[in-house]
Amino acid sequence: MRTTKRSLQKMRDNEEKISVLTCYDASFAVLLENSGIDILLVGDSLGNVLQGEDTTLSVTLDDMAYHTRCVTRGSSKAFIMVDMPFGTSQISPENTFENAAELMAAGASMVKIEGGRIMAETIRFLTQRGIPVCAHIGLMPQSVHQLGGYKVQGKTHYLAKQLLDDAVILEKAGAGMLLMEAVPATLAKKITKTLVIPTIGIGAGADCSAQVLVLYDMLGIYSGKKSMFIKNFMVGAASVNEAIENYVKEVKSGKFPGLEHIF
Ligand code: KIV
Repeated sequence: MRTTKRSLQKMRDNEEKISVLTCYDASFAVLLENSGIDILLVGDSLGNVLQGEDTTLSVTLDDMAYHTRCVTRGSSKAFIMVDMPFGTSQISPENTFENAAELMAAGASMVKIEGGRIMAETIRFLTQRGIPVCAHIGLMPQSVHQLGGYKVQGKTHYLAKQLLDDAVILEKAGAGMLLMEAVPATLAKKITKTLVIPTIGIGAGADCSAQVLVLYDMLGIYSGKKSMFIKNFMVGAASVNEAIENYVKEVKSGKFPGLEHIF
């Protein structure tokens, strides 16, 4: 039986940490879920790691639907979260629903949408019509040009308050989960304690309900500068399987992320 939104909520309520990794194909889907990963995130980071682009902006809905079908074929237990790529959730709630419906038909259990309170109306529209949504705040890679680079968000008192307010508004709008990327650990903790829904952190400290990393990053496959919040789990592991199993163990026990991985 596949993990459900309800079972993830139960894990959060029981303070059991949730493990998440990005996944883009059937072979890794088998390996990841056999290693105990709870959520497979078909991330638009596939634009970077599979397609070699500098940003995620050129990833299409067809790309996401294709990789969702690949991951779905390889998995039978994990919850499958899928990113709505740039340009597919910004026009109108109706247009977003049509796009999200394609991803749900491809196998998604939930879609993920980048954006703060501006997305509340869209999230309400989708969730009231049967499409579960994870809201993504903090560093939003699809807004890299607007944000002026891949930078930590919510560092001032004012900006932290804005993010906290966004989180509350998005939960009220119906978001079933909230992902926070590159925000100070103290802020992520405050948001996690304020919300009822599970939070997922990447570069957001150890107090989120769940942790996610890009699969290629945690396997040590990256070019250029390594972000501070990444841990290479291949170090000290004899195989890819062992690296993934160690990731699951460290997320579940709260060992990852450590103090060296937080802002
Ligand atoms: O696309 C992706 O991999 C993501 C993670 C960075 C959370 O959204």
